Amino acid sequence: MKLGFIGGGKMAAALIKGVLKSGICTPADVTVSDVHAPAVEKLRGETGVTIAASNAEVVGASEVIILAVKPGDALAAIQGLTAQQMESSMRWAWQGGGGKTSKLLISIVAGLSLATLEKAAGEKLRIIRVMPNTPALILAGASAFATGTLATDADADIAQKIFGGIGIALRVKESLLDAVTGLSGSGPAYVYTIIEALADGGVLMGLPRDLALQLAAKTVAGAAEMVLQTGLHPAVLRDQVASPGGTTIAGIEAIESGGLRASLIAAVRAASERSATLGSGK
Ligand SMILES: NC(=O)c1ccc[n+]([C@@H]2O[C@H](COP(=O)([O-])OP(=O)(O)OC[C@H]3O[C@@H](n4cnc5c(N)ncnc54)[C@H](OP(=O)(O)O)[C@@H]3O)[C@@H](O)[C@H]2O)c1
Repeated sequence: MKLGFIGGGKMAAALIKGVLKSGICTPADVTVSDVHAPAVEKLRGETGVTIAASNAEVVGASEVIILAVKPGDALAAIQGLTAQQMESSMRWAWQGGGGKTSKLLISIVAGLSLATLEKAAGEKLRIIRVMPNTPALILAGASAFATGTLATDADADIAQKIFGGIGIALRVKESLLDAVTGLSGSGPAYVYTIIEALADGGVLMGLPRDLALQLAAKTVAGAAEMVLQTGLHPAVLRDQVASPGGTTIAGIEAIESGGLRASLIAAVRAASERSATLGSGK
């Protein structure tokens, strides 16, 4: 699949490395443009993908284009593209545009609605909005996506293939994507904080830092796999290890009195609300 990236920053790099690892694309299939040249030069050195001189060149070389710039840059990027492509022999073909090759735009931009994207593109593009996360880099991503007015089920299959190949990809109503952003889009950062805090606890109790970090990270990964693989509710799994008068229930008492649960719920709420605010341009 010929895949193009407009914006070659952190999330694009994670996605590119993920699709190359998964075998969905070879380096020759991937073209990237970015206004920040040093970032993409590093990416080219690491992955062998092609760096384009312009966003229009990415569009010309790709069947599927992933918009991976910051929210504040997204509309200008699309509007610039649309104008360029309309001026230049219409290689960016609209659906039903006289038999020309039709391209799919996938936006990973936080907060930016399909309606706003479609309006910026002159209501003529097939668009899918995806919220991925950075563990896509190691094929452990969690993504959710919603389809725009002109996107077809075949387009949804393409999004499923790309994002399902680098983790899980779930199709949702667009109205859920701010909440997805607050949970899984931003979630890796919450979990890194938890891992660091667990390791700090280990260090406090005398463990060497590197040992504590390894134990903390593997404990989080193992507990997550237990939830995914057993299908059991986390509360059931927790009760299984909290024996009466034991060590675990003593730790859980400290967690509850420290408010970890309320903090995490508030984190998802704050990030979801921030996503909605970004979408309104603030
Ligand atoms: N990072 C995450 O965990 C994550 C998770 C889910 C979704 N996302 C979404 O992914 C998008 C990218 O995030 P990121 O963290 O990868 O940001 P980033 O590292 O800042 O990357 C964006 C890149 O796009 C470049 N750029 C800006 N305007 C451009 C244009 N018109 N044409 C081509 N390139 C342009 C930027 O250059 P300059 O720096 O010079 O402006 C920057 O190098 C955001 O919308 C974010 O909401 C990110």
